[in-house]
Amino acid sequence: MGKPDPDASDWSDLDLLTIDEATDRLDVEIAAITAVLGTLDGGERDAAQQRLDLLVRARDRAAAGPKRPLYDAPSHPAHVPADLVRDVDHVFGAEFLTDPFGAYRGLRDQRVLWSPNHGGYWILTRAEDIRAALQQPELFSSVSTGIPAHASRKEKLYPLELDPPEHTAYRRVIAPLFAPRAVTARTAAIDSTCAALIDGLAGRGRVEFVADFAEPFPTRIFTNILGLPVAEASRFVTWNNALLRNADKPELRRDAHIAINGYLRDLIAQRRTAPRDDVVSALLTATVPSDEGADRPVSDDEVQNLCFLLFIAGLDTVTAALTWCFHFLARNPDHRRLLVADKGVIPGAVEELLRVHSFINPARTVTHDLEFAGVQMLQGERLLLATALAAQDPEEFPDEAQVRFDRPGNRHMAFGAGPHRCAGSHLARDELTTALEQWHARIPDYAIDDAEPLTLHAGGVFGIDRLPLVWST
Ligand code: HEM
Repeated sequence: MGKPDPDASDWSDLDLLTIDEATDRLDVEIAAITAVLGTLDGGERDAAQQRLDLLVRARDRAAAGPKRPLYDAPSHPAHVPADLVRDVDHVFGAEFLTDPFGAYRGLRDQRVLWSPNHGGYWILTRAEDIRAALQQPELFSSVSTGIPAHASRKEKLYPLELDPPEHTAYRRVIAPLFAPRAVTARTAAIDSTCAALIDGLAGRGRVEFVADFAEPFPTRIFTNILGLPVAEASRFVTWNNALLRNADKPELRRDAHIAINGYLRDLIAQRRTAPRDDVVSALLTATVPSDEGADRPVSDDEVQNLCFLLFIAGLDTVTAALTWCFHFLARNPDHRRLLVADKGVIPGAVEELLRVHSFINPARTVTHDLEFAGVQMLQGERLLLATALAAQDPEEFPDEAQVRFDRPGNRHMAFGAGPHRCAGSHLARDELTTALEQWHARIPDYAIDDAEPLTLHAGGVFGIDRLPLVWST
């Protein structure tokens, strides 16, 4: 396989806009639309207003960062060394909303940092430390896996927010449903769903990649796995966006949560009376150890909880992964040509693109006072284990800044590590490989329409909100 030009393949390919560039560009366009809005009517006015809302939201988010006051007192607990305190906010920080991977890169000068935001949290920056923390649930509990903790949910997510041994029992329930054999059985459905979507887009020459492909593709697979008609997919997309795109609006997240659970409850009741060959019916026959030691059937509430987690773990993640992959490939034609010339390159490309865009930010809670990564941590303190920081560690990834589709021994942590390592990684890899193969077989040459500013979301999952792609037909 030919090697990409190293100069065209370092982290600068991934860099987005600086905060000032982003706000300046947005300000110019906001002023232009505001000036003409009053002269438009009907559909044109609606479209302009919609775009204006999008731009204002993006501008406000970008501008909020540097001027934003710290959430809590800027002081830090006495046991935290002052030189480790840094105003990092991976949820609302402007640098994370413009170039999240670059923002992490700027933290690598220290092995561990303390952010005073969101109640205060540790940030580990070395792959070895991040892996060790993910692998030791007895030191770092999954009792709440987000920073900030989800205020809208009282019940835990199964199995994500359980620690072993409780975790092990529920993990065993879902593992076979997404094991390699189960995914292979779905390959034909994944292929045909992907082909149908791309066939519908290829002649258009222009798409908004997120809404037109990256959301519907995994959502259709998910509805198929749940045994639902494909028409239900758009409903799931709406709920998913309400749930995961509103870090600052807990009431919208709560409403979406209630709607999804209502839907799942009805579905579970239907499958109880009339089982089918689908995931819900399979979960209803599963067992877990009871308090007395013997096995008992999983309850309807537990099935609902497991399905809810699959919903939030399996959709937004694949959408984000697809969008980061296509963002990179659109900007880096040398890399794209490698995939087009030889589809055998694609599995390696998927791994490397997952590494350089490791977009999940798991969090843990310290179970007892301990020393770790050279600092004193106290029981109850939160810890951010950013998979992107692990991906940027040159100790694990020589020439970490290079995007190499033929990188040997690519042990990235995009899917996490330890007992909670992604249960859906085989499905995710199959979806990503299929999408890259089928897209490039039909649409080998495309570019980003730079007329629209790129807006991102940050927090638990880093993602791109909208990605306009164009090609000639
Ligand atoms: C590229 C796409 C994906 C990425 C990058 C990803 C990443 C991750 C990560 C990092 C974790 C660990 C979180 C933690 O330790 O707190 C995780 C857990 C999980 N993921 Fe994925 N995921 C993806 C797709 C999927 C899909 C398609 C499914 C659907 C089946 C899925 C199901 C799960 C489940 C059930 C867990 C919890 C496992 C446990 O707690 O034992 N994921 N994922």
